[in-house]
Amino acid sequence: MSRQLAPSILSADFARLGDEVARVSAEADLLHVDVMDGHFVPNLTIGPPVVAALRRHTDLFLDCHLMVDNPDVLLDDFADAGANRCIVHVELGDPRPLFDTLRARSVQVGLAVSPETPFAAAAPYLPDLDLLLVMSVHPGFGGQAFIPDVLDKVRAARRAIDDAGLPVDIEIDGGIQLGTAHEAAAAGVDVLVAGSAIFHAPDPPAAARALRAAAWPTAA
Ligand code: DX5
Ligand code: ZN
Repeated sequence: MSRQLAPSILSADFARLGDEVARVSAEADLLHVDVMDGHFVPNLTIGPPVVAALRRHTDLFLDCHLMVDNPDVLLDDFADAGANRCIVHVELGDPRPLFDTLRARSVQVGLAVSPETPFAAAAPYLPDLDLLLVMSVHPGFGGQAFIPDVLDKVRAARRAIDDAGLPVDIEIDGGIQLGTAHEAAAAGVDVLVAGSAIFHAPDPPAAARALRAAAWPTAA
């Protein structure tokens, strides 16, 4: 198990992205990058050119969450841009060809499950993954309320991963604030994504530190 905090740049000021990232980088274990295509989700955000630009400004691990209908045609572009992990959604169908592409490019493999998707949809792929992303809001927008029902999915995933002894991290994404950070960590989450709780706070580095302390109070 790891204990990592991943600021989501979705809630950062895109016009000052390099500065926003620099401001939180000392408190961040990785950077979460939400890619939306206006089809898989109603929102439209950023793609490989922005990842390439970020890559020139930070050494942080770039965790790219692909909320797109056609990840197959984009994965090489993300690898070229310097993405360290690409997370694809299980709702699109058999992800194994996508995993093969990512492995061939030495990019870590993540699989995301939307709130209404059962853990069983992702379970067969666990041995192929570096990370399972449990969405705790409906994908598409920052600043939504946490859906507490997904904690049962986290617990089921934690059991399955631990029982099989798999080196798979569990990430949670959406509605993470101080209270939900604590609940998610207690349910077995390894990686907390937080967007608005960090970037909309008056002091983003302090907000990141507070989230980490709320999630893992006994950690140094
Ligand atoms: C939503 C995105 C999240 C988003 C979370 O579709 O996947 O990563 O940034 O934002 P908050 O933390 O504000 O709920
Ligand atoms: Zn995300």
